[in-house]
Amino acid sequence: MSDAYLQLDKLTLAYGDTVAVKDLDLSIAKGELVALLGPSGCGKTTTMRAIAGLLNPASGRINLDGTDITRISANKRAVGLVFQSYALFPHLTVYENVAFGLRLKGLRGQDLDGKVNAGIKSVGLAKFAGRKPGELSGGQQQRVALARSMVMEPKVLLLDEPLSNLDARLRLEMRAELQRVQKETGVTMIFVTHDQAEALALADRIVVMLNGGIEQIGTPEEIYNRPVSSFVADFVGFENVFALKEGKLAAPNGAVALSDPAPDGAAGLAWRPRAVVLGSGPFQGTVRGTSFAGNSREYLLDSALGPIKAEVDATLPPRELGSTIAFDLPIRASSNLKRFG
Ligand SMILES: Nc1ncnc2c1ncn2[C@@H]1O[C@H](COP(=O)(O)OP(=O)(O)OP(=O)(O)O)[C@@H](O)[C@H]1O
Ligand SMILES: [Mg+2]
Repeated sequence: MSDAYLQLDKLTLAYGDTVAVKDLDLSIAKGELVALLGPSGCGKTTTMRAIAGLLNPASGRINLDGTDITRISANKRAVGLVFQSYALFPHLTVYENVAFGLRLKGLRGQDLDGKVNAGIKSVGLAKFAGRKPGELSGGQQQRVALARSMVMEPKVLLLDEPLSNLDARLRLEMRAELQRVQKETGVTMIFVTHDQAEALALADRIVVMLNGGIEQIGTPEEIYNRPVSSFVADFVGFENVFALKEGKLAAPNGAVALSDPAPDGAAGLAWRPRAVVLGSGPFQGTVRGTSFAGNSREYLLDSALGPIKAEVDATLPPRELGSTIAFDLPIRASSNLKRFG
């Protein structure tokens, strides 16, 4: 990509003989907010450490703002990193924590004071500049860690699960805060999470990783609506995911034909519970479970296709446990999976 600001080129990362990330290619534009999403152990932190310069690649290159930084030391890369445990200096005030890196850079006097105060203000902590970390809530400490990285004016800011220590309400607040700071400053940001809702809510683009490689890159809409593989489909809440064999759905008890032809080249098909048509169609299901969810009602059906999860409007009359219902899995409401398994 010609407008790449940060470019990872066939990056392979290893710990001794253990390859954690293999041949990773990724281009990120200036000012983008990218989420790295994926299960534990897929290589997210490893990738961040390599971008930050804390891990030497076994092979491949990293380019930032037109410069090859593969062999440049961490402190000369202009890359900021905020870890899950944000390790503030407990004996220093908020002001001094934020000033720390700038002092190391040689800033003094009004230059220093101006930057530190602007940084603290940008995360809404002006009132707390004189407090120590122990006198702040978890979310406030998190914001100090963010300000401390931001004042260094990094070209890229890496955030490794920065919200995972926070309770649900603070997480939501911090999400909004991160998004605001990122839009205001225009800093290029890569954000690691294993929470798909967080990635969908925050990111301009999502990179879904699996086993040290990239499974899919796309906008939140693309990832949510058009997963390319059964893994991504599962990850973003498709409950009815099937492999295709010779144009038929591979069900536990054998292949089942669909009413319409399956799309060419599809390895599988997936339906969200909402996409299942209940009450008519070529298939029969027995209601094994039902749950009321406010606006909707969910059904778990036993069928020749295996268990099917369907969701319908709660205004429709409820179905009895044990009753038989016709249903359909319309091709037009399915998501087409290029890879299965
Ligand atoms: N210091 C290390 N030495 C050896 N292997 C490591 C080391 N750090 C990580 N690994 C391995 O590398 C792989 C990728 O780890 P990594 O920390 O990048 O995963 P992650 O995607 O960040 O997972 P999580 O969501 O749990 O943080 C894992 O298999 C892990 O066991
Ligand atoms: Mg990690």
